Amino acid sequence: SIPEFVKIVEVGPRDGLQNEENIVPTAVKIELIKLLASSGLPAVEATSFVSPKWVPQLADAKEVMQAIQNVEGARFLVLTPNLKGFEAAVAAGAREVAIFTSASESFSKSNINCSIEDSLTRYRDVSLAAKELLIPVRGYISCVVGCPVEGMVSPSKVAHVTKQLFDMGCSEISLGDTIGVGTPGTVIPVLEAVLDVVPVDKLAVHFHDTYGQALSNIFASLQMGISTVDSSVSGLGGCPYAKGASGNVATEDVVYMLHGLGVKTNVNLGRLMVAGDFICKHLGRPSGSKTAIALSRS
Ligand code: HMG
Ligand code: MG
Repeated sequence: SIPEFVKIVEVGPRDGLQNEENIVPTAVKIELIKLLASSGLPAVEATSFVSPKWVPQLADAKEVMQAIQNVEGARFLVLTPNLKGFEAAVAAGAREVAIFTSASESFSKSNINCSIEDSLTRYRDVSLAAKELLIPVRGYISCVVGCPVEGMVSPSKVAHVTKQLFDMGCSEISLGDTIGVGTPGTVIPVLEAVLDVVPVDKLAVHFHDTYGQALSNIFASLQMGISTVDSSVSGLGGCPYAKGASGNVATEDVVYMLHGLGVKTNVNLGRLMVAGDFICKHLGRPSGSKTAIALSRS
């Protein structure tokens, strides 16, 4: 059986935009976040407090965070790669943060410039600081199926890193198929290994749709009891340090599938499409959501 309610974590303003070459104006980002929140999404990842040299697109994190302080409806989370980012996020009003590591050493090095072990040490400091302020910390693990450099990643490695994040107190751990190579054939063994070490209600899945496998992978995850799913409006996105990675699975497509299954999400698909339309018009490109394209035709 599958969960009755699925919490969708919208990552479009962060994962969706971080890789855009042309800087999206701050006002456009803020409007996008407001539209997403008004669609009923329970959680929206707003931006990242990372080095602007590494991710120039999100250099306006502080302005974005400050502007959405009073926006209601959704919880907003932001990426923080270290204490410096955590402190800046809190100062700008963040009430929920996410730390991010990897199940692949090469990816860790290219994404956050350190080993997995060093990142976990760094994140223990962030977790302690967050605990004092009662700020929930989401943990991300990249490359849970495959790595652009190392190829296949072993499920036991993913389980090991998951357990470390769980032990440091992460409220939720999101398993990312960063380059979108997974199929249910490879994703299910990863989930089985992870479910051996952490409870199912602590897990989220984060699929990129490079090979068109994301919805199948989400369905397989639901069947294993996972009830938190990351997605990006209009399928925006890709990771700057994962060459060839396409966008996240489109939120519209996830909502369409979930509602078709009778699963509640609290999301109004029509309003979500308004948000998707808004950002696609701004970026000057068609939606990456098949559902949005089909429903706009009718
Ligand atoms: P580093 O160069 O090793 O850091 O970067 P450093 O500590 O040596 O500092 C270098 C400079 O960065 C210094 O400035 C610091 O002050 C500054 P300088 O003295 O040269 O002027 N700095 C910062 N500035 C602002 N905010 C900060 C910060 N920290 C240091 N927080 C670091 C290490 C982790 C900072 C860097 O590698 C970084 O920012 N990486 C972020 C990469 C990123 O955002 N990747 C995309 C997100 S992850 C993702 O997309 C995957 C996910 O979607 C799941 C999936 O799909 O797999 C989550
Ligand atoms: Mg991602």
